[in-house]
Amino acid sequence: MIPIEEQRGFIHAELDKLGSALAIGPLAGYGQELESDTALKDGIEEKIADVDFFRTKRWDSPLRLGLYRFAQYALARALKPAGIVETGVLHGLSTAFSLSALARNIADDSAGRMISIDYPSTFEEGAVNQDGFTDTLPPDRTSGWAIPDDLRGNWTLRLGSSREELPAAVAELGAPGIFIHDSEHTYETMSFEFETVWPALEGGGILLADNIDVNTAFFDFARARDRLVHILPVDPDHHVPGASGIRCGIIRK
Ligand SMILES: C[S@@+](CC[C@H](N)C(=O)[O-])C[C@H]1O[C@@H](n2cnc3c(N)ncnc32)[C@H](O)[C@@H]1O
Repeated sequence: MIPIEEQRGFIHAELDKLGSALAIGPLAGYGQELESDTALKDGIEEKIADVDFFRTKRWDSPLRLGLYRFAQYALARALKPAGIVETGVLHGLSTAFSLSALARNIADDSAGRMISIDYPSTFEEGAVNQDGFTDTLPPDRTSGWAIPDDLRGNWTLRLGSSREELPAAVAELGAPGIFIHDSEHTYETMSFEFETVWPALEGGGILLADNIDVNTAFFDFARARDRLVHILPVDPDHHVPGASGIRCGIIRK
């Protein structure tokens, strides 16, 4: 594991690059905010404490949960969206970061809510993904089980495939400010989700997609709409030699 100072430097530098590339402004301050508030980390640790499934039971800092989640938090804090829609929840670790940002926004008088869609990959039935992703929920757990209870008030979970659930979720939110894709990373599912959300996405809104290096769906979509692609790298601790080093891609409407 790299020293925490290096992880902090990595996350802050990447957040500011992201904010500058997408003309949002500096984002590292939100990273600092999240790091100094350990309530989210403590809440997740409480949820996973007695679940064998998780090897890591405690993190020495929220920073260990990674750039991908810090970026979701920082974007939601900076843009203060009235609506966030997400596909792919699983345990709910990333979802908790967006919800934590919404809770802070609400404390700052900016209301916002989030709808997440998950077609559950249960321990008992196995992964539903057709993209080679094999992670499942722990035994007897439902999607989002690791989300601290105090963050659930502004959250709606819809269980089902994004093909079934996403159009209604987008319509319900009106003009979501942030869309996060992390469900099934096949060309068809990714393209369907991007095409469904983009027309409704608020002007200046964010489309963030995980695992964009598994096919060309994200790049094809961004090119067709003439959007600058900003890429977040994987955390240094998760870098696999020979792999692309790409974690997720982000475009702004
Ligand atoms: C990569 S995991 C999500 C991880 C989560 N976003 C995080 O970062 O902590 C993918 C999730 O999407 C679900 N899923 C797979 N296919 C789906 C589909 N077509 N629609 C909605 N969810 C799907 C899987 O069962 C799994 O729970």
